[in-house]
Amino acid sequence: MLNLLAISGSLRAASTNSALVAALARNAPEGCRVTVYDGLGLLPIFNPDDEGERTPREAFDLIDAVTSADGVIISCPEYAHGVPGGLKNALDWLVSRDAAINKPAMLVHASPRSAYARAALAEIMRTMSFALFEETALEIALLGKKPPEMESILAEPVTVLAMRDTLSAFADFIRRR
Ligand SMILES: Cc1cc2nc3c(=O)[nH]c(=O)nc-3n(C[C@H](O)[C@H](O)[C@H](O)COP(=O)(O)O)c2cc1C
Repeated sequence: MLNLLAISGSLRAASTNSALVAALARNAPEGCRVTVYDGLGLLPIFNPDDEGERTPREAFDLIDAVTSADGVIISCPEYAHGVPGGLKNALDWLVSRDAAINKPAMLVHASPRSAYARAALAEIMRTMSFALFEETALEIALLGKKPPEMESILAEPVTVLAMRDTLSAFADFIRRR
């Protein structure tokens, strides 16, 4: 069984990115379990002085979750052509650890826009030595949708198939390594 950790870069209650990662968790193919990380909004702001013995519990929880996952999935909005501070903060807590080194990771997209954030996030994650899976890109157009409409798109058979196929391709990538 592969354990995948899914992270949404949005803290919004009606977030499209959070809806996408929740749907991935519901639709994981056989042999994969997707767990949604829910601690993004609880992380203190990263400060290198607070590493080592002073590392906060919330940061340890994130480091442990990434370390014990076989792969990481991120779905993230774009804010002002960049990566939202909350997600960048979470990644910063991982920079000087081993958790990200060679950790398989995949970006998925809930918006057809956000080209700047996609590129920036990929660059950040490559720099952190994540092993980025880039052969398949899952994009489900949820931008601007309200929760009932999101849920109906995410329940469509074609969407469910796309999610399963992408997770299976990512799982194959992890197993090949
Ligand atoms: C402060 C702010 C800045 C944004 N800047 C951009 C942007 O530069 N480019 C873009 O494509 N969308 C931008 N958006 C739109 C969001 O990326 C978009 O609504 C996204 O789907 C929100 O994700 P969520 O539903 O998971 O919260 C911005 C939204 C906010 C709130």
